[in-house]
Amino acid sequence: MTDTATDSLEALYKDFADLNMEGGWHRKFPALWPEPRRNFLPHVWHYADVKPILDRAGRLVDTTQAERRNLTMFNPVEGNIYSTVRTIVAAYQMIRPGEVARAHRHTPNALRLILEGEGTYTVVDGKQVEMRPGDVLLTPSWAWHSHANSGDVDCYWMDFLDVPLVHLLEPMFYEPHPQGLEPEVEVLETAPIAFAWKDTLAALDAEQERVGPGKPVSVELGPEKLDSIGLEMIRIPAGGSTEMLRTTANSIFAVVRGGGESEIDGETLPWAFGDTVAVPAWRPYRHRATEETVLLRVTDAPVFEKFGWLRTETL
Ligand SMILES: [Fe+2]
Repeated sequence: MTDTATDSLEALYKDFADLNMEGGWHRKFPALWPEPRRNFLPHVWHYADVKPILDRAGRLVDTTQAERRNLTMFNPVEGNIYSTVRTIVAAYQMIRPGEVARAHRHTPNALRLILEGEGTYTVVDGKQVEMRPGDVLLTPSWAWHSHANSGDVDCYWMDFLDVPLVHLLEPMFYEPHPQGLEPEVEVLETAPIAFAWKDTLAALDAEQERVGPGKPVSVELGPEKLDSIGLEMIRIPAGGSTEMLRTTANSIFAVVRGGGESEIDGETLPWAFGDTVAVPAWRPYRHRATEETVLLRVTDAPVFEKFGWLRTETL
């Protein structure tokens, strides 16, 4: 029993702490703040730096050591060793002729953007489609997936996964296919999970027709979608620029074609084909193209939309 005559705030705080509790008026860190903090950092990874490293890995690391020969891009914010932005991780991957990555499935959602090479295919839930430069392919949560290179050149692509979101919420499940590869495979020319580059270009051209020449245009990839990740292809004419905006959603931009720079929260970051641009939440940003450019935007906006947390402002 506490003696009221000798009781003190220090004694009270100690008694809280012993019960794993804290007084709301006594927090060491605030629990609420007026608007999103600047946390993760704007950053660009250059494909020209990465490709020689992937090539070295291709010589030194075979598929028995690394069935998926990938390099993840971790945001340089202090304490982070994995995520590219808060909820999404991006990676570069290379597969050599004759290599096969066996089937597995996991709760994280994934997608792939092909950069270079031909003769590779992916199998998602028994459906096989070829992957060509500029194509985007979805691997929805818990879908079996494998891939292989049956061509004669190295193939390079980018992967994006919502693994950091799954780490946060913790519903992680992963399993390799018991037979190594899916036993029954249907070979298809097109599949709902595959967005071919030629179809993307046609959709961009149709949108350009609608808005008029000389303006940036964007199209959402669909109708098939991942629950947690939204995808948009943005085309910016040479010398053009997107509007300055900020949003609560996190984005990663991949340079599918062209070159230019992004202005992100006062920093100017140049980029070229194959580069990856991290634009964390609430950082004002815009892209400028020095030549005709296509960017793939990979964003967690669908998660924010579901909770009513998506706020976007044009500045
Ligand atoms: Fe996977």
